[in-house]
Amino acid sequence: MGLSSRHLLGLEGVSKEDIELILNTADSFHEVLDREIKVVPTLRGKTIVNLFYENSTRTRISFELAEKRLSASPLNFSSSSSSVNKGESLRDTIQNIEAMKIDMVVVRHGAAGVPHFLTQCTDAVIINAGDGLHEHPTQALLDIMTIRRKLGRLEGLKVAIIGDIFHSRVARSNAWGMSTLGMNVVLCGPPTLLPQPMDSIGVPVTFNLDEALEGADVVMFLRLQLERQASGAFPTIREYRERWGMDTEKLNKLSKNVLIMHPGPINRGIELSSDVADGPKSVILEQVTNGVAVRMAVLYLLGGGENA
Ligand code: CP
Repeated sequence: MGLSSRHLLGLEGVSKEDIELILNTADSFHEVLDREIKVVPTLRGKTIVNLFYENSTRTRISFELAEKRLSASPLNFSSSSSSVNKGESLRDTIQNIEAMKIDMVVVRHGAAGVPHFLTQCTDAVIINAGDGLHEHPTQALLDIMTIRRKLGRLEGLKVAIIGDIFHSRVARSNAWGMSTLGMNVVLCGPPTLLPQPMDSIGVPVTFNLDEALEGADVVMFLRLQLERQASGAFPTIREYRERWGMDTEKLNKLSKNVLIMHPGPINRGIELSSDVADGPKSVILEQVTNGVAVRMAVLYLLGGGENA
């Protein structure tokens, strides 16, 4: 049994069965990552292009590592060193790359909808690695996998997502994916950094941090996307940190078993103090580890691989 779609463009509208299939497959690949030899032959002969038009550390390296561990052949495209700088269009770029006989494309782009656009100009399988303010589905899948592995269940858990919701594709993918799995998501942040209209993501939204944190099993902080801010979204960084950031004093008031998450990169001292980011309730680096297993699962399920 495989996924019901040829591509992974987002988690909005993806069924519970498909998400659970990815999570279960990722758990199997997590075991592969614990072996001495971490490579399986499942995607041998497949060529995968990592098409990154925006900066990335975690997602790009994680996909490349996942591809290598599945024995695929990765090719890395960086827009800054490509003919995009000579004015080549996205359509021409992908069609020229496809002419070299590739199988799959992992794409990150600053414009929402680019992964969907690519499905219309190539026959390759497309995986969204983050498109503008829209979705970042593999980040949400690795977040959900981390919660499931740490807490042993998903349904009924309360997840508070705090911070710059407006600019966050991670918040959107998590809200949609988690809701499908029966989790209770609440979004919280400064009024100027909440979605517009407020109910557009379909989960509760609040300005009140205490209300969002009340009874939360998981608290996910989002990076304040300083590079995407229109001026005046909040008064000062100091006020943001005091009202929306997490430090040990605030953490001590939360449930004893709460998980602290962050998709990275962290603005240390803004969203999280370093003692929280590096402390015992933080699962931030486990999120990164699980990301490789999730991306192996997605590549395997969409790439038509043989059994691991
Ligand atoms: N979480 C995430 O997408 O990080 P990168 O931008 O480093 O890929």
